[in-house]
Amino acid sequence: MSKDLKDKFGRSYKYLRISVTDRCNFKCKYCIPNDNFQYLSHNKILSYEEMLLAVEAFSQLGVNKVRITGGEPLVRKNISFFLKKVKDITGIREVTLTTNGSFLHKFAKDIHEAGINRINVSLDSLREDRYSYITGGFDLKTIINGINIAKEEGIKPIKVNTVVIRGFNDDEIIDFCDFASDNDIVVRFIEFMPIGNSAGWHKDNIITGKEIIDIVSKKYNLEKVQKKTLDGPAKNFKLSGGGMIGVITPISQHFCSECDKIRLTADGKIRPCLLSDDEVDVREVIRNGGIEDIKNKIRESLNIKQEEHHLSNRSCRDLYKRTMSKIGG
Ligand code: GTP
Ligand code: 5AD
Ligand code: SF4
Repeated sequence: MSKDLKDKFGRSYKYLRISVTDRCNFKCKYCIPNDNFQYLSHNKILSYEEMLLAVEAFSQLGVNKVRITGGEPLVRKNISFFLKKVKDITGIREVTLTTNGSFLHKFAKDIHEAGINRINVSLDSLREDRYSYITGGFDLKTIINGINIAKEEGIKPIKVNTVVIRGFNDDEIIDFCDFASDNDIVVRFIEFMPIGNSAGWHKDNIITGKEIIDIVSKKYNLEKVQKKTLDGPAKNFKLSGGGMIGVITPISQHFCSECDKIRLTADGKIRPCLLSDDEVDVREVIRNGGIEDIKNKIRESLNIKQEEHHLSNRSCRDLYKRTMSKIGG
C-alpha cells in the first residue's frame, strides 16, 4: 500500500506535531485565558506507549518528521525517554521540540543525548519586565541561560519564535535581529493569530510579515533563503553581517496550499488543521484497536481537512474550542 498520505487536494503529509501535555508552567497572556483554566485529567491523556503506537502508524503512512510540543513538553515526566523512542521508530528522520525554554538549563543534555539536534524556543520579549508580564512572572535570564546551555551542548540550529504584537513588542524587532546576528540564532517572527486567549487578540494588533521585513530592511540587507526538505512554513532571510530571521505569515499570506502538517493532541485527537476545530478521535482505537484502525482514523482526518483556513470569514474570533496550549501550535 502507498506510503504517501494525501488529502483530497493532493497535499502530502510528512510532518506530525504531537502535543504531549496540555500543561504549561507559563501563563502567557495571549494563550491561557484565566486562572481557572481546566487541564485534562490524567486518564484522558495518552501514555507514551500509546503515542508511540500512533507515531508508528503515522510513519507507516509516510510521516518522517515529528515535532514534540505542549503545553510545555519538558514538564512531562521522562520526556527524554519518549523522545529517544520516537527517534528510534523506522522512517522517522527527524524529531524536534518546541519549548518555552524554562527547563532547558536542566534538560538540554538529556534531550540532545536522546537525539534532538535542533529546537525551537518561544521568546516574545528581550526586556525583563515585558517578558515577565507576558509569561505570567517568568525570568528572562533563565531562558537566555537555557538557550546558551543548549548551544554549548551542540543543539543547532536553535530557533526563537516571537509572536509580534503591535503595542507590545513591535519596537523590539530590530533588537531581535541583533540578537539573532550576535548569537547565531534564527529568530522567526510570527503573525498573531486569534487562537488562545481571544480577549487578548485584536486584528489591529497584527503586524504582518511584510511590515516586519520593511522594519528589518531599514537596518539590515536581507538575502532570501531557499527552502529545503523538512523545512517548516517560515520564509527565511540571511541578515547582512550574519544570522538569520524568518517570518511566519498564517494571516497575511497563508501557506495552506503547501500544508504538510497533521497534529495529535495529548487527549488523542487528530487535528488536521491548526485553525479548524474539526478533529477525529483516535484514542479509542489506540486503546482498543490495532494499527490498521489507527491508520484508518488518520486517513479519515485528512478527508475532513479543508483546503485552507477560513479565518477571514469567521464572524467571531473566539470560536476555537481549544487554546494553543491544548493544540501545541
Ligand atoms: P521548523 O520545522 O523549525 O520550521 O518549525 P515550525 O515552524 O514548523 O514549528 P514551530 O513549532 O516553531 O512553529 C512556529 C509557529 O508557527 C506555530 O506554533 C504556529 O504558531 C505557526 N505555524 C506553524 N505551522 C503552522 C500551520 O501549519 N498553520 C498555521 N496557521 N500556523 C502555523
Ligand atoms: N498566534 C501566533 N503564534 C502563537 N503561538 C502561541 N499562540 C499564538 C498566537 N495566538 C506560538 C508560540 C509558540 C508556538 C508553539 O506558537 O509563541 O512559539
Ligand atoms: Fe495547514 Fe491549516 Fe495551517 Fe493552513 S491553517 S497551513 S491548512 S494547518
